[in-house]
Amino acid sequence: MKTALLIVLSLGLCALALVDPKEEVDFFVPQGWPKPRYNFENNPLSPEGFELGRSLFYDPILSKDSTVSCASCHLQYTAFAHVDHPTSHGVDSRVGKRNAPGLMNLAWAPYFHWDGGALSLNGQAVNPITHPDEMGSDLATVLSKLKRQKDYASAFKKVFGTEDIKTHHVLKALAQFTVSLVSYNSKYDQMKRKEVQFSEQEKKGYALFQQHCNQCHREPLFTNFEFKANGIGLNLALVDSGRANITGKDKDAFLFRVPTLRNVEYSFPYMHDGRFNKLKEVVGHYAQPADWNFPISSELQKKKYSMNSAQQKDLLAFLKTLTDRGFLFNPNFSYFSLVK
Ligand code: HEC
Ligand code: HEC
Repeated sequence: MKTALLIVLSLGLCALALVDPKEEVDFFVPQGWPKPRYNFENNPLSPEGFELGRSLFYDPILSKDSTVSCASCHLQYTAFAHVDHPTSHGVDSRVGKRNAPGLMNLAWAPYFHWDGGALSLNGQAVNPITHPDEMGSDLATVLSKLKRQKDYASAFKKVFGTEDIKTHHVLKALAQFTVSLVSYNSKYDQMKRKEVQFSEQEKKGYALFQQHCNQCHREPLFTNFEFKANGIGLNLALVDSGRANITGKDKDAFLFRVPTLRNVEYSFPYMHDGRFNKLKEVVGHYAQPADWNFPISSELQKKKYSMNSAQQKDLLAFLKTLTDRGFLFNPNFSYFSLVK
């Protein structure tokens, strides 16, 4: 009797193992970082899910005329930001209203987009897929195009257990890739872990950073995820009211989410509208309070500091310590990893 029960039990376990062959992977949280906000229970990471997400990320099939992929606007070598226009550039050469931000450390973000308009990474990709200035497609078309491709059907089956691909499968696979883009190994991180030392100039730059920038671009993610204004002034061509687009409140007018500064050496152009091409220009902006325009958040208003050219160079040297080459050139994140 006992043996029979054991056999039944073990057969049951084998069957379970067959239904769910995928292996889950642990998400790596760098030492000293806060707990990620992303809910991995809703979308457990697996190597197959990551690979499927990566294939989709690099596949123009998601756009209406199969010309634009996620990677067209989110290029690995520029920390998954885009470089060819100040604001993004999608199907039919349409130009959007905003600069594509770099994609990294998204597991820690409480919301997405410059105005915090997207609340979940699992849902975010609907925006670019359907936005007329980005990929200009619709979900039904995307699903039928994917189902027609044998490789996709079998990849979705491996990850989600079905060939009947649904929208949430596509979005979750993309999120498995984008949530895995963790940048934690810059010279700054190595300095913090006491593996390397900063040069004298980098040390001076770090001190300036802590004095002038850290309130908003807070370590270790280099953003406090709040909505602020940094005195660059309104862009009259775009009339983008920022956070107020979402909340409808006057107090949020022209506020934008504080962007991370990790890999900022490469994630040009800068600001929500891509108005600055060079990091030197950005530092120059912060160095000249006399030239700041409305609106300005209180953290900056309080200090009417200026920085001379030697200080600007020091600050720039520090910002470059946030470059993580292991991330920018990680073969596992790259298009070339698809070409087997
Ligand atoms: C035509 C250019 C373009 C394409 C194509 C594009 N994006 Fe974006 N992406 C943007 C822009 C612009 C933003 C900022 C939007 C905003 O602030 O309103 C953005 C924001 C994001 C964000 C939020 C990042 C953050 O820190 O807030 C994620 C995640 C993202 N895109 C992923 C994707 C994925 C996945 C795809 C493919 C399905 C994709 N993008 C395709 C331009 C693009
Ligand atoms: C009041 C908060 C605040 C402070 C203090 C602050 N910033 Fe910013 N920073 C912002 C906001 C908000 C943006 C985005 C503004 C926009 O796009 O309209 C930004 C954007 C940037 C960008 C562009 C990043 C990108 O990817 O586009 C850089 C670089 C930058 N800041 C560096 C600095 C430096 C260096 C300092 C210190 C001298 C500093 N910031 C101080 C709020 C702040």
